[in-house]
Amino acid sequence: RLRMPPIKLAIVTLLLLLPSLVVSSPTEKATKKQPNILILLVDDLGFGDIGANGNTTIRTPNVDRIAKEGVRLSHHLTAAPVCTPSRSALLTGKYPIRMGMVPSIQMQVFPFTASQAGLPTNETTFAKVAQRSGYRTGLIGKWHLGAHCSNSKDFCHHPNNHGFDYFYGCLLTLLKDFSGLGESVLHSRFPHYYRNISLTLLATLASLGVGYKIGILPRKLCIFLALLGVLVTGFLFCLPDYLVRTVNSQLHRQTELVEQPIRFEKLTQRLVWEGEEFLDKAVDEGKPFLLFMSFLQVHSPLYNSVPGYRGRSAHGWYGDNIEEMDWSVGQILDALDKRGLSDDTIVYFSSDNGGHIEETTHTGERAGGHNGIYRGSKCQGAVDGGIRVPGLLRWPGVIPAGSQSNALTSQMDIFPTLLEAMGQPVPSGIDGRSITKLLRQPQSTKSPHDFLFQYCGTLLHAVRWNSPEGVLKLRHYSPNWLPGTEGCRYICGCMEGLGSVRHSVPLLYDLSADERETAIVPADSERYRRLVPQILEAERRHQASLSSVPSQFTFAKLMWRPWLQDCCNFPLCNCRDTKYDSRPA
Ligand SMILES: *[C@@H]1O[C@H](CO)[C@@H](O)[C@H](O)[C@H]1NC(C)=O
Ligand SMILES: *[C@@H]1O[C@H](CO)[C@@H](O)[C@H](O)[C@H]1NC(C)=O
Repeated sequence: RLRMPPIKLAIVTLLLLLPSLVVSSPTEKATKKQPNILILLVDDLGFGDIGANGNTTIRTPNVDRIAKEGVRLSHHLTAAPVCTPSRSALLTGKYPIRMGMVPSIQMQVFPFTASQAGLPTNETTFAKVAQRSGYRTGLIGKWHLGAHCSNSKDFCHHPNNHGFDYFYGCLLTLLKDFSGLGESVLHSRFPHYYRNISLTLLATLASLGVGYKIGILPRKLCIFLALLGVLVTGFLFCLPDYLVRTVNSQLHRQTELVEQPIRFEKLTQRLVWEGEEFLDKAVDEGKPFLLFMSFLQVHSPLYNSVPGYRGRSAHGWYGDNIEEMDWSVGQILDALDKRGLSDDTIVYFSSDNGGHIEETTHTGERAGGHNGIYRGSKCQGAVDGGIRVPGLLRWPGVIPAGSQSNALTSQMDIFPTLLEAMGQPVPSGIDGRSITKLLRQPQSTKSPHDFLFQYCGTLLHAVRWNSPEGVLKLRHYSPNWLPGTEGCRYICGCMEGLGSVRHSVPLLYDLSADERETAIVPADSERYRRLVPQILEAERRHQASLSSVPSQFTFAKLMWRPWLQDCCNFPLCNCRDTKYDSRPA
């Protein structure tokens, strides 16, 4: 038996413990200290649009730097192929269908700031959790998750009401109509819009005339219906130019409407400057921060406001937009460096959906992203082009620099992962899974998901299974591409006959061997018969877990309501943010 006097024993014990104290104390501190969080979300950026994902001709050194100093997730998915639902899933960690945030008609996103639809106020966003745990929170750029409920001043769906202390940006999104060059979303989708509504009016007037002549319609009713027809037609005529452009094109600072319509002058810089000012405030207050830079680029309309970027890239105007977005990323990363914040900040970079390959400018120049080897486009639920997005994370001291993970991850995983980093409990009933373990050991950690469901609107288009035999995908639908393309006219709709086709015998793909989804596993094969029932069973379990919630995409909620319309210098609806007038571009 070892016998020692108490003093000596204490000294020996101390000596034995010392190395572990020295080693463990800083890491303990690091895990206890709440890290800052910077989210960089690009609008409509394609998987193949950045150097980090293998693009050798576009210049995105700042984006690529995040991958070099952190991890690149190669199989990273959004929960929807279009922004409104996808962004709601990122913020809450849940499938949009659990929040009524899925298109049930042809409209895929909220069309007006003066719509009633929005992310329900009772949902928990990571920003709300951050705010509760002492963070200063801010969102700069695009929101597109609603604004008002019952009047133009209530801002019930505004970022301020969803956990963000500070907001500067666009409550809707950039729309090509905002360029003032005569481009319009409505025209792209319905090329004969004006002709069709004019013809409809003429036909209505003619039948009213005939009805009156042959005596089946009383004169007063005829006049009433004719006037109504003219009014409705007038409204539809104004819709693209007045309603979409002048009225929707707005920038808010907090709830104050500061610019209408949006000027592109210094727009990219203004977002960056707002981000820098936010960082300064957080540092002054001594609080950890969560800054969500939600870039307006590279969505249409294309614009460049940073001198030297127009005509800079090897890929036309669209490429110029990517490179300018990369400039913004660089400015924000530099801002962290300059303030000594980089070592304590988690940086997440991604896109809200895949590139929009059908998008063009008013002159027909390409204006949408490049989805790498993945097929299809934004708004397509069944194939991967619309949902496989760049996924880069940097977290010094946690994520090994320059690493890569091919594990299946979802943007919904960001919610629980950030909550863990803040030291907050992760609520049950969410669909995202924490990827903290995977971030610590990217090469050797498996995906936390067994199944991921791929929705297009309310329809389940595909399911992927992280099976023992690799990642498999079962497709119930396919987009109905125009011959020789991987797109439709502007966008493919989700519904059968309206942009998609349904497969009565679902198609099975083995993504581990066939990432491009070019060859199906034959339906009469042993493999198909063995695997598909298990996928269908998972689908049933998932669908049984959904409860019915009010839809945010009803016609009544999406409709434009005059009393929800914010307008500066009424009735001109015209004002300009003058805050940065004296600052050189
Ligand atoms: C790089 O990105 C540009 C811009 O989207 C695209 O035109 C080009 O095809 C991409 N190149 C490669 C090799 O992926
Ligand atoms: C929010 O409210 C709606 C309707 O009032 C309800 O259906 C939904 O379950 C609620 N969501 C949460 C997360 O509490």
